[in-house]
Amino acid sequence: MLVEKNVPLRAYNAFGIVARAQTLVRVASEADVAALLADPVLAAAPKFVLGGGSNIVLTGDVRPVVLKVEVMGRRLVQETDRAWIVEAGAGENWHDFVAWTLANGHPGLENLALIPGTVGASPVQNIGAYGVELQDRFESLDAIDLATGKTFTLDAAQCAFGYRDSVFKHAAAELSDFGLAGRALITRVRMRLPKPWKPVLGYLDLERKRHETGIAEPTAQQIYHWVCDIRRHKLPDPRVLGNAGSFFKNPTVTPEQCADIIARDPRVVHYLLPNGTVKLAAGWLIDACGWKGKTVGNAGVYDKQALVLVNRGGDTDPVTGGEVMTLARAIQTSVYERFGIRLEPEPVVV
Ligand code: EPU
Repeated sequence: MLVEKNVPLRAYNAFGIVARAQTLVRVASEADVAALLADPVLAAAPKFVLGGGSNIVLTGDVRPVVLKVEVMGRRLVQETDRAWIVEAGAGENWHDFVAWTLANGHPGLENLALIPGTVGASPVQNIGAYGVELQDRFESLDAIDLATGKTFTLDAAQCAFGYRDSVFKHAAAELSDFGLAGRALITRVRMRLPKPWKPVLGYLDLERKRHETGIAEPTAQQIYHWVCDIRRHKLPDPRVLGNAGSFFKNPTVTPEQCADIIARDPRVVHYLLPNGTVKLAAGWLIDACGWKGKTVGNAGVYDKQALVLVNRGGDTDPVTGGEVMTLARAIQTSVYERFGIRLEPEPVVV
């Protein structure tokens, strides 16, 4: 176990925000966690688990002990007539894992290509894109209880997945054991990729690709390339322009609320959900309030996708977490004033 002090976190968060970890411990194996918990000072300290840093806003130096997860490895666990079960260490890069599964003939994750971040972070926010959510392919995960040092395995139901949500985003409440935020360190994730493979093509951007290319029945590799292409056009590469992906969740409203919003602006982008509620495109709401391309301090709204906030200060004068949150609050206020909708931030604010 390597314990580092006063560690710059700029390279470890996708916004490129300048902040430091007072104490950072790299976790490459279960043994590292055991060593950490054997140290009385570290064992007693509050802890913050850091994955790829692609879904966090750092608003200052991090006082809890930062656990940087670096558990590696990818393997086919099992192949049956009905599925491939594949596993990756929590420290693996998510996109590399997706590419690896396809290169090895195990399709099913192609719609989730190019999502920034690590495998270990993918269940935390139940990543999703182009008609597929992690929970649709999830098998199970291994984690360590940082309070007891015990290893445990959770299936999908136990992870309590929701839209960009899971048990790992909630801190345990006083009267319930539900939340695992700050308590569980995910070490390995397993995905179930069903056989026979079936393409998921319902999303408008993919239908457009199908139409443009004239390929009616694309392979998984083809969809993978389409998704990469769509993302590269629409979303900024965090290595070039710091960002944490979508900054707000797409809100869900009742049909009555939606009718009210349509009355204010009939162009509102909305989708009827199977349960009768309506999902609104937060990007459209923000765009309609005139935010696209706007900048406040060094925090900006991306010019091609209003749902993404970006670091306009680059490396020379990087955005602060405070500036990001000030811009986020200004956006929330104007969307609320115009449409009566409260947008909920998607990244974890630290
Ligand atoms: N729109 C606008 N203006 C904008 C942005 C969007 O009018 O500035 C409209 C688009 O034209 C489209 C609709 O809003 O009609 C939806 O936009 P898009 O297809 O880009 O998807 P999204 O709802 O904004 C969600 C996810 C993304 C995911 C895409 C594709 C959330 C919070 N975001 O974005 O996930 O890649 O769908 O499935 O659910 C992420 O979570 O970090 C993320 C990037």
